[in-house]
Amino acid sequence: MKHYTSINDIDNINSWIEEAKQLKENPLKHIELGKNKTLGLLFFNSSLRTRLSTQKAALNLGMNPIVMNVSGDAWGIEFGDGTVMNGNTAEHIKEAAAVVSQYCDVIAVRAFPTLIDKEKDESEQVLTSFKKFSSVPIVNMESATGHPLQGLTDAITISEHAKTKKPKVVLSWAPHIKALPHAVANSFTQAMQKMDVEFVIANPKGYNLNPEITGSTPVLHNQYEAFRDADFVYVKNWSSYEDYGKVLNTDPNWMITKEKLGNAKFLHCLPVRRNVIVEDAVLDSNSSLVIQQANNRTYAAQLVLKKILEDL
Ligand code: CP
Repeated sequence: MKHYTSINDIDNINSWIEEAKQLKENPLKHIELGKNKTLGLLFFNSSLRTRLSTQKAALNLGMNPIVMNVSGDAWGIEFGDGTVMNGNTAEHIKEAAAVVSQYCDVIAVRAFPTLIDKEKDESEQVLTSFKKFSSVPIVNMESATGHPLQGLTDAITISEHAKTKKPKVVLSWAPHIKALPHAVANSFTQAMQKMDVEFVIANPKGYNLNPEITGSTPVLHNQYEAFRDADFVYVKNWSSYEDYGKVLNTDPNWMITKEKLGNAKFLHCLPVRRNVIVEDAVLDSNSSLVIQQANNRTYAAQLVLKKILEDL
């Protein structure tokens, strides 16, 4: 595999899940594969899980990870073509990507959306510029529209905990005070569409995700109806896509409660705001899989890096 920038880069999700489970059983089996190879992790935004689990994945493969907080510590990077750089940016992506490619065998990038300029966000300017101007593979650690390492993680976690051949999985919106990206919800939707699950989305009116991503997946505006007979409830807030980047609704009735969850298992990518998105009684119960889910971030990243290293 050359790059991993989207769930669409997964050719066969079932075989990827099985391979990730094998890596989890024996994480150091391929410790020689990444020997003398360097992974550069470039963060334009904050992270806890992605930053640590991707480094751990690299170390499990014998790679040397190096990390940079690009927004705080590097020169401001210009992405525009032909820009007269007499503003705040001091270095162009053409030089930056080419230079980092000389230090790293693989580059992983996190760059969130503006949530103001839909067209710019959907162009994935940062990610596509790194792909264009780097000479090494690129891994998406959450971009404007996708979080494919998280989506793969979620697929692995659901497969591990499924008790039926075709579980019912619900992606539910929940309230949040700030405008959040669509990336996690998009990649989760794309991952579920590749799996043999009964998948539905629950969100208030005005919060439908990009229809090009949801496709024929049923979207319900009644959370109780969506949760009926669910095996897994995956919860995430996102801002409006239609009224791009706006917070239209903070209705606490959409918060996840133990009563609403019933016998279903609870998933969330984390970080999660307690008693806003979900009540304590869910997170502190055996219904919650969030810690096991976060553990799988390592094996999802390790699988992606392994596939890239095998094709270097
Ligand atoms: N789920 C996730 O990506 O967590 P971080 O933002 O902490 O990396």
